[in-house]
Amino acid sequence: MTNRRDAERRIHALRDAINHHNYRYYALDDPEVPDSEYDRLLQELRALEREFPGLVTPDSPTQRVGAAPLREFGEIRHEVPMLSLDNAFSEEEVRAFDRRVRERLEENGEIEYMAEPKLDGLAISLVYERGVFMRGVTRGDGSTGEDVTQNVRTISSIPLRLMGKGFPMLLEVRGEVYMPREGFEALNQRAAQRNEKTFANPRNAAAGSLRQLDARITAERPLEFFAYGCGKVSAAALPQRHSAVLAHLRAWGLRINSENRAVRGAEGCLGYYRDMAAKRTALPYQIDGVVYKVDRVDLQQKLGFVARAPRWAVAHKFPAEEAMTVLRAVEFQVGRTGALTPVARLQPVFVGGATVSNATLHNMDEVERKDVRVGDTVMVRRAGDVIPEVAGVVLAKRPRDAKRVHLPHKCPVCGSEVVRPEGGAVARCTGGLYCAAQRKELIRHFASRRALDIEGLGEKLVDQLVKAGLVATVADIFTLTVPQLAGLERMGEKSALNLVAAIEKARHTALPRFLYALGIREVGEATAETLARHFGTLQALMAADENVLQQVPDVGPVVAAAVAAFFREPHNREVISAVRKAGVHWPEQSGTRLPGAGPLSGRSFVLTGTLSGMTREAAGERIRTLGGKVSGSVSKKTDFLVAGSEPGSKLAAAQKLGVTILDERAFLDLLQE
Ligand code: IVH
Repeated sequence: MTNRRDAERRIHALRDAINHHNYRYYALDDPEVPDSEYDRLLQELRALEREFPGLVTPDSPTQRVGAAPLREFGEIRHEVPMLSLDNAFSEEEVRAFDRRVRERLEENGEIEYMAEPKLDGLAISLVYERGVFMRGVTRGDGSTGEDVTQNVRTISSIPLRLMGKGFPMLLEVRGEVYMPREGFEALNQRAAQRNEKTFANPRNAAAGSLRQLDARITAERPLEFFAYGCGKVSAAALPQRHSAVLAHLRAWGLRINSENRAVRGAEGCLGYYRDMAAKRTALPYQIDGVVYKVDRVDLQQKLGFVARAPRWAVAHKFPAEEAMTVLRAVEFQVGRTGALTPVARLQPVFVGGATVSNATLHNMDEVERKDVRVGDTVMVRRAGDVIPEVAGVVLAKRPRDAKRVHLPHKCPVCGSEVVRPEGGAVARCTGGLYCAAQRKELIRHFASRRALDIEGLGEKLVDQLVKAGLVATVADIFTLTVPQLAGLERMGEKSALNLVAAIEKARHTALPRFLYALGIREVGEATAETLARHFGTLQALMAADENVLQQVPDVGPVVAAAVAAFFREPHNREVISAVRKAGVHWPEQSGTRLPGAGPLSGRSFVLTGTLSGMTREAAGERIRTLGGKVSGSVSKKTDFLVAGSEPGSKLAAAQKLGVTILDERAFLDLLQE
């Protein structure tokens, strides 16, 4: 296309189309075209703009990346100050807020509020003039912020040009720039791989990314934006309700959170809070609470402001998931597989609704990457039900005498050598089952609810049993007697009897549970289930070598190697045999091994009467080795009934259902075939 007029027309059409698709994708979360089509349009636009550089405008969708690095950010005064919100930390405080609002307004009825998630990112002001994005400024101290326009341009969910009609000549949009969880994890993972510093949380990552002097770096960061209000707006009046303002912003192409709700009264607010608290971990972004805003703008104006916050809104915070405290010591725990986990001993701190004095440091790689030292002030995270962790160090508070953390050379439990494979994150004790820690962990795991489910055999009791020398391997559990147990500290006759009964009950189990209970490295519940279903019997599984194991669907080389190694180990075979001798059993299955490979696979047999040449058991075994299934009763799914002499009622049942009936001769012929 060489004609400038045509090019100009096409450029406009392309920009409109791209802006429209951006809007569908980001603001409405409802794209109309696949990504490839969007990319094609963008490429065509880029090519045309290259050909006609005079036609490039700052609001073109091509202008999102690549501005040259700045030396520093300019400072910009906010024409309307950017305020913050008062916080409420309890239901009582929310009710008090609502009461104050009603009293000031002399209102007896319920107030209408807009309830919104409180995004955990950073506040930003976006200025649009005649619908074109002009400026992006951080909140700063509320009156003056930093000019981050170049960086804001790189955020795809911020439109460079407003859509539709009716927007004011000057429109200042306010909202939150944040980093979605997924993008945050990926960013940190990449940083970790390159041995670079990671961000402690998505909020820090968002702030760090937006305040980059080099916009090309910001462009690579997964930042997103939600609008939650307006600042300075020129004459054209906006609607008289906050909810309607948000609806307008959405129509003009800005992204509005779809979790926003209109609610009534304090109870409506609290209901929203509970809903969001329950949803919180499932959201793709981090929120630290919810915000309630009086919806009617005239009422907002009547209420006005105190100091730095409006009287018409409040932030109802979730219990903080992060807190600062001092790292007093680092100790190493030895797990079931011998892995040494560094554990932080902390000055107790209230975080995420509980007092935390221990937190995981995961592994030595993490300790080194985060450069955690004893004496440091650290950020502790406790989100939902996950184990509290040390998220990062507050370097500014590092004392002079902070001590580096060293991996011990010897296992703190058994004194065996500790090895850390070259480049590996995990250090392990080489003591194996000689190491009491590993033994204890295995015993506890063996007895746990999802394994053999021995009620009452918890951590403390396992410690006692191992210490007293009553239990060295899991097989010893089954030799425990009431007098032995009753002799232990804090153990009465009654609990001893209960425990022996629970052990008795656990003797009858299922193969997947038993496999899981063995604590084979890499074998969790799902893999145990897969292996049990595939092989049917423990013997078959134990006989399988790595190659055979790898043929099992969902079993890769790592799992196959771990399983084969486990069963090769004579000690493990001994323990298994002792456990079985102690009466642990489960119903044997036929397995789905080599599906389609056996000539009888997919065929279902029922046996009845007496065969002259072999026992019924032997016949069943023959069928199973050829891939067939044997079941105890006739149903529509039965393919063959093998009838010996003096058949039982199964014969009549089979005749009634039209099942093929084989006498001994025919059966032998079939096996021959
Ligand atoms: S409204 C005058 N709405 O929370 C009202 N703020 O402490 C100003 N925030 O700096 C804010 N989500 O960065 C509002 N839905 C939301 C919000 C929100 C997050 C942040 C905002 C502000 C801080 C207030």
